[in-house]
Amino acid sequence: MESIFFVFLATFLFLLYLLHCLLNYFSIGINKLPLPPGTLGWPYIGETFQLYSQNPNVFFASKVKRFGSIFKTHILGCPCVMISSPEAAKLVLVTKAHLFKPTFPASKMRMLGKQAIFFQQGDYHTKLRKLVLRAFTPESIRNMVPNIDSVALGTLASWEGRLINTYQEMKTYTFNVALLSIFGKDEIFYREDLKRCYYILEKGYNSMPINLPGTLFHKSMKARKELAHILAKIISNRRGTSQIHNDLLGSLMGGKEGLSDEQIGDNIIGVIFAARDTTASVLTWILKFLGENPSVLEAVIIEQEEIIRGKEKCGEGLVLSWVDIKKMPLTKRVIQETLRVASILSFTFREAVKDVEFEGYLIPKGWKVMPLFRNIHHSPENFAEPEKFDPSRFEVSPKPNTFMPFGSGSHACPGNELAKLEMLVFIHHLTTKYRWSMMGPQNGIQYGPFPLPQNGLPIKLFNRT
Ligand code: HEM
Repeated sequence: MESIFFVFLATFLFLLYLLHCLLNYFSIGINKLPLPPGTLGWPYIGETFQLYSQNPNVFFASKVKRFGSIFKTHILGCPCVMISSPEAAKLVLVTKAHLFKPTFPASKMRMLGKQAIFFQQGDYHTKLRKLVLRAFTPESIRNMVPNIDSVALGTLASWEGRLINTYQEMKTYTFNVALLSIFGKDEIFYREDLKRCYYILEKGYNSMPINLPGTLFHKSMKARKELAHILAKIISNRRGTSQIHNDLLGSLMGGKEGLSDEQIGDNIIGVIFAARDTTASVLTWILKFLGENPSVLEAVIIEQEEIIRGKEKCGEGLVLSWVDIKKMPLTKRVIQETLRVASILSFTFREAVKDVEFEGYLIPKGWKVMPLFRNIHHSPENFAEPEKFDPSRFEVSPKPNTFMPFGSGSHACPGNELAKLEMLVFIHHLTTKYRWSMMGPQNGIQYGPFPLPQNGLPIKLFNRT
């Protein structure tokens, strides 16, 4: 009896061994691949200190020089692979996007709401994207031009004669335009309450997720609840009418399968988060670059004044229209060049969903992968004299995958047309009606979290005489 038991056991163990060998055989190709070159630094801390104690570009540039365009490192407790070639960035964001999911810190996910578009993949993401994109196509936003025009004029008038922090003021402008795109004309009724709650909420975005009374995180979560309450009220008011709304809220409420109030709320907070500081930072850089490049500013003024002359000749009022927006090719190149030089989103994060073979290396499951947009935009192989601000370089299209200020692939920015539109309208009124002087030191850059001119670019704005 005992011997039969041992034969069974031996056979069982042998079969297990065989299975193990077979599994190994099939995964052998990938597991035998080397990790990308690079260093991981200290246990847990990794190379976080080296990255954050200096200008991050210095860290990236020295790594690329030493290890090439794909290298490994260890940041904020996570092993990462950083990628700085256009082709490899395309693989991560587009061609092999199914192998790399978006990833964010847990505290940010709780604040924005876990059902927001950024964190999704698959069917729910596709459905959300369709609804969000529908609200931001050129056809949907063209009717917003007169309203954006009035917000831009009001913003500029409020700056006259004052010493202002450009970035802080631009945040008010881009917040108001974001609300306009989300709630249409309804926004005016809720603007102040939404602003109050959102400004408390955002203070907790990068806080430690400790939900105890008195902590930043706790205050933010409270403000988030209040924000969700206001949104629920707006949604309920809309459900009570048969009016059709072409804004983002209208699109999110009108999907065939329908979204829950919570899903709508998470995505509205998400869009405000995505729309405001990004566009405000780029506008701040535009003022700086135009201020430092008088010949470019002069060319922009000529282009914008021509639009006013055209409108006067036709006896049209001076409120901008969609047709006018199409007459600003040079101003558009100024925006493109600012997006390139400033590269306010220096990189993005993805996470390998399984062990991935990537350009001859192994990227293990769970490792973060970071396409470095800034390095791609600042490589002399892609842009001659990359540190020079020269909008005329965009008279010729850049090489494929070398210019991605709005990302690429299934998570690329759905708000890019609105961002460009609100910048064009703002530049039109700024350059045709005002002049500005930059105050204080002008060479520093601060990171908070986007790169910004030092102290948010203090300026004084004057009426053009
Ligand atoms: C100049 C201003 C802006 C820049 C530079 C910018 C840049 C980007 C980039 C690079 C991404 C992709 C991130 C990734 O792949 O991980 C993105 C995503 C996104 N952006 Fe923008 N953005 C801007 C303005 C806006 C505006 C005005 C809106 C909305 C009105 C918006 C809404 C979004 C949303 C919802 C996503 C997530 C898309 C998804 O996950 O499918 N952005 N943006």
